[in-house]
Amino acid sequence: MDIVIQAKGLTKKYSGKTALDDFSIEVHEGEIIGLLGPNGAGKSTFINIVSGTEKALSGELLLFGKNATSSSRKKIGVAPQENAVYPLLTCFENLLYFGSLYGVGWGKAAKKADELLGKLGLADKRNVPSASLSGGMRRRLNLACALMHSPKIIILDEPTTGLDPAARNSMWNTVQEIALENKATLLLTTHYMEEAEALCSRIVLMNSGKVVADGTPAALKKHAGREIAKVISIPGKYAVFADKIMKIKGIEAVTQTEHGLVIESEDISPKIPQISRIFEKHDEKVVELNISRPSLEDVFLKLTGTKLREGTANEPAK
Ligand SMILES: Nc1ncnc2c1ncn2[C@@H]1O[C@H](COP(=O)(O)OP(=O)(O)O)[C@@H](O)[C@H]1O
Ligand SMILES: [Mg+2]
Repeated sequence: MDIVIQAKGLTKKYSGKTALDDFSIEVHEGEIIGLLGPNGAGKSTFINIVSGTEKALSGELLLFGKNATSSSRKKIGVAPQENAVYPLLTCFENLLYFGSLYGVGWGKAAKKADELLGKLGLADKRNVPSASLSGGMRRRLNLACALMHSPKIIILDEPTTGLDPAARNSMWNTVQEIALENKATLLLTTHYMEEAEALCSRIVLMNSGKVVADGTPAALKKHAGREIAKVISIPGKYAVFADKIMKIKGIEAVTQTEHGLVIESEDISPKIPQISRIFEKHDEKVVELNISRPSLEDVFLKLTGTKLREGTANEPAK
């Protein structure tokens, strides 16, 4: 598969403070890739270098295999973190305006604008000034503006930050539909691990301007540790049979706790039937079975020592 964005050792500083630190990434054609990291990680800085609004101090940026130029950047559509729409223009007018910036002819732009308004659930807001839209709707319009020229690469910088759960869900559906329909490459940034997991086939974890991990959500989570099954049974004489569970192939630890038996394995689900049989054999009635798997938050914590949501030392003072 072709590499459509390739960053090699990008570094960017603001007044001596490092925002991107020898940052390298390869984005493949057609993939949905998420940059996941806390506030201040450098996500927007990277997006701004890709879109050309910021310049890197050093490093290389290739688009479609060649050094990035203003003309190769025209094949990218960026929905920025801060909405770029004009409050006094109607939704339709905003779209035409962005179409003209990208050099889309009037007739084609009008058709595309109406098509996008329909797809993004804004058809009945066509002639309404964007100032009077709800936050979620304005975010959709911001996204639509980036799609006016049918870009080959779609970049969404924090598409759902600040939205309520319902608006976030509907944005997720929209993003998935857009990716499917346009067969475009989709790069999004987020500090919500749920969002990265729901939407992305590949996730690049970022912290302090650096890549800390890169892979599918499942592969990343394998780093974080084992899966855990917590079993509570009656009468709960775990000491009698705990060693039998430990003997099952692939079981790595069995611990008795006040709240039942805790069983650890890399991949616990396939072992549940065997575990259950041992409980049955010892006349133990299972009353609760809980399986927990490591989350991307656990992965991030393990790799960086900080939580995704807490940000980093790099985060600007509020
Ligand atoms: N225009 C700017 N001037 C000064 N510092 C900036 C500017 N833009 C970003 N930074 C700093 O660069 C770092 C990375 O910021 P940013 O790329 O916006 O992170 P993210 O998008 O991951 O939240 C932060 O420490 C931020 O304060
Ligand atoms: Mg940002």
